[in-house]
Amino acid sequence: MFSSRNRAIGKAHSKLILIGEHAVVYGQPAIALPFPTLTVTCAIEEADSGIHLDSKLYSGPIDQIPKRLKGLAICIHKTIQEIGKHHNGLLLKIESMIPIGRGLGSSAAIAVAIVRSLFQYFNCELSDEKLRELVNIAETYAHGNPSGIDMESVCCDEPIWFERGKGIASVAIRSSFYLVVADTGRAGDTRSAVGSIKHKLDKSPIQTKQSIDRIGQYTLDARNALIQGNLVQLGLLLNLAQTELEKLGVSDHGINHLVNIARNAGALGAKLTGGGRGGCIIALAENCVQAREISEQLNQNGAKRTWSFKVEETQQFQSITS
Ligand code: MEV
Repeated sequence: MFSSRNRAIGKAHSKLILIGEHAVVYGQPAIALPFPTLTVTCAIEEADSGIHLDSKLYSGPIDQIPKRLKGLAICIHKTIQEIGKHHNGLLLKIESMIPIGRGLGSSAAIAVAIVRSLFQYFNCELSDEKLRELVNIAETYAHGNPSGIDMESVCCDEPIWFERGKGIASVAIRSSFYLVVADTGRAGDTRSAVGSIKHKLDKSPIQTKQSIDRIGQYTLDARNALIQGNLVQLGLLLNLAQTELEKLGVSDHGINHLVNIARNAGALGAKLTGGGRGGCIIALAENCVQAREISEQLNQNGAKRTWSFKVEETQQFQSITS
């Protein structure tokens, strides 16, 4: 992060939920990973008067921001109020590589970059706790009932184990692996996907609860598979979680299509990531040759774009093996 008297830059990265999305809203655990390939920066400069945003989403005074982005305006006002320092005017320039509505944490990452840059600009210390409190304002507005996992995972540089209300813990990974991320090209709406599961819970509580509990169990099993370096087992668990997400109604035809392409191309497992109903899928590959083959097949069969990256074994295991 860089700061001088009249300029500051705050950054955040994207995230991927490996397993546990949606069930995490109801207290089950989830595992998320930083996705450092896609980042967002917020650069602040002094302006003549007022607070202005310059971004692909909206450019103009934040008091006239469209309703869907109002959470960001509230977050900015609260942050400035919290800092309590005078300014004449501010221009916040946001540049994001994270596609919106793809389950990659773009809204949380933008809010994190904004809060970090404002604290930098005014030369104030920002505690982790304060960052989370302020970002949560934007996230609650955007998603209605966020578990908090998006916010935690865009702030962390390591894989995390997350349980709502209990915070985060680290996740031990014995064997590195590759993930291929494929974009359906359609924006999902996390708020309505989360709302639809709430509706399902009211209508068919027993079945819905069973799916949520199963996802929780698969997440626990996935943590063990990661500790043991059992990637075949991990892949199976991703597939099982996808089956439950389908039953919950948050997958769709486009996601299922990409999931099948990835599995047929040799993925050890594949599932949606994030809110679903559009957005992205992830596919698990043992090595980079397999990841390349899966990416190619996805690109040739309907994915708007793909990214592939290596998830490294965690330090704990690096020191054991070295
Ligand atoms: C969205 O990335 C993850 C969800 O589980 C919602 C949440 O946990 O806030 C779908």
